[in-house]
Amino acid sequence: MPPPRLLLPVLLLLLIPAAIAGVPDRYTVRRGRVGVRAGNSRLSAQEYLDPTYPVPRPPPVASPTCVVPVLTHSFGDTYGAPPATAAYAPPADCPAPWSLVSLSFSVAVAGDQYDRVAAVWLDGVELLRTTTAEPAPGGVRWTVRRDVTRYASLLRAPPGGVLSVMLENLVNDEFTGVFNVSISFQFHGAPAYLSGVNANAPATLPKSYFEPADLILPVSDPAGESTGGFWFRLQNASHAGSRLVTIPSNAYRAVLEVFVSPHADDEFWYSNPPDLYIRENNLSTARGNAAYREVVAAVDRRFAGSFVPFPVVYTGGVNPLFWQPVAALGAFHLPSYDLELTPFLGLLADGKAHEVALTVVDAIAEWRVDANLHLWLDPNASDVAAAVGPYRTPRLSIKRRYATHRLDGRFSIRAKRKARFSGWVSSSFGNFTTEVETEAETTSVVEFANQGNNKTVRFKAERESEVVIRAAETRKEVGKVETEAKFPMLLRTVTEDGENGTSVVRANLTHSITVETSAEAEGLFERESKLADEQTAAGWMLVSGHDVVNGSAATASVYRYSDDAGRYERAIDARDGSILSDNVTESYQAVTAKRSSVAAM
Ligand SMILES: *[C@@H]1O[C@H](CO)[C@@H](O)[C@H](O)[C@H]1NC(C)=O
Ligand SMILES: *[C@@H]1O[C@H](CO)[C@@H](O)[C@H](O)[C@H]1NC(C)=O
Ligand SMILES: *[C@@H]1O[C@H](CO)[C@@H](O)[C@H](O)[C@H]1NC(C)=O
Ligand SMILES: *[C@@H]1O[C@H](CO)[C@@H](O)[C@H](O)[C@H]1NC(C)=O
Ligand SMILES: *[C@@H]1O[C@H](CO)[C@@H](O)[C@H](O)[C@H]1NC(C)=O
Ligand SMILES: *[C@@H]1O[C@H](CO)[C@@H](O)[C@H](O)[C@H]1NC(C)=O
Ligand SMILES: *[C@@H]1O[C@H](CO)[C@@H](O)[C@H](O)[C@H]1NC(C)=O
Ligand SMILES: *[C@@H]1O[C@H](CO)[C@@H](O)[C@H](O)[C@H]1NC(C)=O
Ligand SMILES: *[C@@H]1O[C@H](CO)[C@@H](O)[C@H](O)[C@H]1NC(C)=O
Ligand SMILES: *[C@@H]1O[C@H](CO)[C@@H](O)[C@H](O)[C@H]1NC(C)=O
Repeated sequence: MPPPRLLLPVLLLLLIPAAIAGVPDRYTVRRGRVGVRAGNSRLSAQEYLDPTYPVPRPPPVASPTCVVPVLTHSFGDTYGAPPATAAYAPPADCPAPWSLVSLSFSVAVAGDQYDRVAAVWLDGVELLRTTTAEPAPGGVRWTVRRDVTRYASLLRAPPGGVLSVMLENLVNDEFTGVFNVSISFQFHGAPAYLSGVNANAPATLPKSYFEPADLILPVSDPAGESTGGFWFRLQNASHAGSRLVTIPSNAYRAVLEVFVSPHADDEFWYSNPPDLYIRENNLSTARGNAAYREVVAAVDRRFAGSFVPFPVVYTGGVNPLFWQPVAALGAFHLPSYDLELTPFLGLLADGKAHEVALTVVDAIAEWRVDANLHLWLDPNASDVAAAVGPYRTPRLSIKRRYATHRLDGRFSIRAKRKARFSGWVSSSFGNFTTEVETEAETTSVVEFANQGNNKTVRFKAERESEVVIRAAETRKEVGKVETEAKFPMLLRTVTEDGENGTSVVRANLTHSITVETSAEAEGLFERESKLADEQTAAGWMLVSGHDVVNGSAATASVYRYSDDAGRYERAIDARDGSILSDNVTESYQAVTAKRSSVAAM
């Protein structure tokens, strides 16, 4: 028997995996194990869901609607394999232009399995980033729908292209879940934006400015089809995913749409302690580098835009029982982020190759990122004239305050970034100056108490952005889009040791995303919209290693969306794998002729 003073550190080390490396973590409910009765244990296939706004209804016109199935594939033991591919061709019976195109990604899976990340690309342009639900014994199925109208130029281009799907999965004696995926597109005719909109007055923006882009270039890994997918897999903060793009010299508008998902040591980046804490406690976890991340886009090494990503909890995260049968916000449909690059056309639109690069501030392995460059082209000219206005690299101001006392600690970070860009583009529509101003502020507090067994995460990211378009000569405002986004998160977990090396983890989580947008374009439309999506979950689980062997959880989700045309609200209460109530309230006014779709802003 060693003396007690030697025993103590050993005991601490034994406690650590449960308390630090293990909370939050990814878990799976192992139904295959005898006696396991946690959460959803029904024996018939159940529909899982993610309450969001239903894909907009097409206008009630007699235009044809076509459903085009593109790919059906079973993702078994696919780790390290190249993507599954299928040929895509535009629908002969539903020719472009379209009022609406939606993508359906349907999955069925049974057995035991972790959550997995998946993505869909068309010729290297990403159309969807998603993660999967964890299965139940009787199987689960779900469908993710995304409005992909903004990719119309790609979808209509003959002769079509190659659809690629990555879903890396491991199948063995223990993890048996095989994901059966089927993907289809639905096309609806008669574009709303071709009718009911005022004719262009001089010195106003063209209608096409707000329609889907004319060309979309991938900023993704060109080797993606033969390797592990088109995403860049970033390993650290200095690792950039970049691609040279040559854009047509008649581009008059550019928007970079960025897709991102964190994995492995950064899956729970918003709750990571600083390395200092890991070092001081001799921990073996690699989940460190504190709890701030920001995705940065650069054009020819110049900072061109950034955002703090919404912290998406995958379905095995925190407590997998929370996400049965309602997935966490964004887990089935990770948000993409639009950065207005029009001010940089003076740099880009010269017919030469330019580098677009993506990096993640403070990243550790690994971040899967890529982007689509949406470009609008002048139909009447082969060149635009353009110049970038006064440029200054926006500084990140970041204050960190770390206090540790053995396994306890408090780590607070306050980060701010203000960016301001402008540039003019003279096309056959006129000479317009685009001013982009964004202000982002993030606060993050991670607290460990009770020897690291009580953990609290308070995270809040806010971002305001304003895009103002002016007639270059008169400085008169002809268009403006303002967006305000907020996403707070509060997570508390308390871990106690159970019998036989198990632990009991109690957790409470509240997270939400609100986005308010107002957009106006002179002579075209004026529009406001508001989205508020919120979840509150509470429960406990008995954990053995990464397996949830008992537990109970309740999750309340409320999704609210309103715009000038109406309101939609869906509130769902779920408990232990079942829906207790699911209430939808909606009201629509007659759609006015002025209403128009605001693409890519
Ligand atoms: C997946 O597809 C295979 C092959 O068609 C089928 O045997 C299996 O039952 C399917 N799984 C589910 C959960 O539907
Ligand atoms: C970052 O990751 C890249 C790619 O794996 C690697 O080449 C580079 O050495 C890493 N840099 C640092 C500072 O770790
Ligand atoms: C960490 O390891 C060092 C060197 O082995 C030791 O001096 C220190 O006491 C350890 N700290 C803790 C908290 O275990
Ligand atoms: C572009 O050319 C077409 C056909 O010549 C003409 O009708 C249209 O007014 C022109 N548009 C602009 C913005 O110059
Ligand atoms: C840890 O959490 C437990 C359970 O909520 C609570 O009773 C205890 O006071 C907490 N300890 C600390 C130091 O916060
Ligand atoms: C466009 O407007 C800017 C700002 O007023 C001006 O400097 C530039 O010369 C104009 N370009 C053309 C081609 O008229
Ligand atoms: C703990 O493990 C022992 C030995 O395997 C077993 O006899 C006992 O039933 C287990 N206790 C619990 C609560 O699972
Ligand atoms: C979770 O919330 C419940 C109800 O408000 C509270 O009783 C419990 O202590 C909370 N648990 C944690 C881990 O904060
Ligand atoms: C799960 O926990 C509940 C509540 O503590 C208990 O009644 C039940 O027996 C447990 N089930 C198993 C399989 O251990
Ligand atoms: C749904 O409506 C019923 C009846 O009004 C109500 O009891 C229930 O709490 C509502 N559920 C939610 C999640 O709002």
